[in-house]
Amino acid sequence: MATKTAWGGRFTQELDAGAARFLASVDVDSRLAEEDIAGSLAHAEMLCAIGVLTAQELVQVQRGLGAIREEIRAGSFVWDASKEDVHMNVEAALTAREGDVGARLHTGRSRNDQVATDMRLFARRACAEVGRSLDRLALTLVGRAEAEIDTLIPAYTHMQRAQPNRLSHHLMAYVEMLGRDRGRLDDAAARMNESPLGSGAVCGTTFPLDREMTSRALGFDGPSRNSIDATADRDFLLELLAALAIAAVHMSRLSEELVLWSTQEFGFVEMADAHTTGSSMMPQKKNPDVAEVVRGKSGRVIGDLVTLLVILKGLPLGYNRDLQEDKAPVFDAVDTVRDAAEVLADAVGAMSFKRDRMRAALGAGFTVATEVADYLAAKGVPFRHAHEVAGRLVGRALSEGKELGQLSLEAYREAHLLFEEDIFHALDPEVAIERRDLPGAPARRRVLAAMAGARARIEARGESA
Ligand code: ARG
Repeated sequence: MATKTAWGGRFTQELDAGAARFLASVDVDSRLAEEDIAGSLAHAEMLCAIGVLTAQELVQVQRGLGAIREEIRAGSFVWDASKEDVHMNVEAALTAREGDVGARLHTGRSRNDQVATDMRLFARRACAEVGRSLDRLALTLVGRAEAEIDTLIPAYTHMQRAQPNRLSHHLMAYVEMLGRDRGRLDDAAARMNESPLGSGAVCGTTFPLDREMTSRALGFDGPSRNSIDATADRDFLLELLAALAIAAVHMSRLSEELVLWSTQEFGFVEMADAHTTGSSMMPQKKNPDVAEVVRGKSGRVIGDLVTLLVILKGLPLGYNRDLQEDKAPVFDAVDTVRDAAEVLADAVGAMSFKRDRMRAALGAGFTVATEVADYLAAKGVPFRHAHEVAGRLVGRALSEGKELGQLSLEAYREAHLLFEEDIFHALDPEVAIERRDLPGAPARRRVLAAMAGARARIEARGESA
């Protein structure tokens, strides 16, 4: 008589030990235990409702899975790699506790629809959790911006000083990015919210499962519409990873600026001691490591997205075991982005701005040159000509070692007769900023409105600080 194997009657040999180790995923997917048990409880209740399980058997399943969940939460559950994955481990433990009913639970279900369900539950929660962390970072930035409404700074393009700006307007640019990141996570969560349960391995099942019932029990919007799609695609994870990669890139850009602004060359910010490290060799060093590591880790998150894209691109329908490799990149990206947002929020909240350095940078470097051109253009000179005149004045100031405001009125009038005394008023950075009074521009009242709007949107989602 053939030996009893893990995979039943079809097999006469146990799986090779090396192959088993290679195929096992429990080290990674045990993290899905909560979702897996929730899915099994919903499935069991439904099986009872359609008469596949008796009321007594349902009680056994509930009792067994409840106890297993407690063990897992307490850390005392023994995961067995020879049982391959989280699904087989939980089922085996249930059978060990409650007997045959554990083996009956899998009626009308495959691990293919089971794992697709687990991952949707996990991803849905991850969207909310990471979204909250991004909101916290955004709200920290709003708070810093509110306190710095009157702090002026150069705006840069091409890393060259460009125009006078408010620090608050600069910080609020990141708040807008993070708001969209949050929106992308919410969109992904809404679209992925379909229940694969009842799809079986690939073509449903012969049992008259109540798919609406399991869908409702798990908080899904409804059952998925195609059993092959539901078990074989992972685009919902790609959307999650894409949203996370974009958020990581935004945080990386912010971090890059913090690194830059922390240099002696810029000196715009000083990170708090609690968020910096020293050098083991150079006693004077204070390194902005938090910002650097956020920037570095964004590379990993981009890699996670690429990993799953490549896993999927060559897969025929339906389920293929390659899909098991979806978990590591998803877990990694979720953890990395959440942690990065949290630590960055702390660092941003604690750093100090060096207003005098920002102001000094604004005074030097001709950031008001656009005002000179706009001044003439407002008096009817075609902008291209006005730009030419302003450029000549910049050249003259440069050669005389002066700022634009230090040239004489005669110098201006030599360049163009339409210049009058009030040009000097226009060159005041404060004035220059206030005249940029459009929605989305840095005039004081516009930035105040932007900050109030952002704060209201974030607080309406439940984040407060
Ligand atoms: N551990 C597997 C995964 O994550 C579960 C599904 C296995 N299905 C199968 N037919 N072997 O994809």
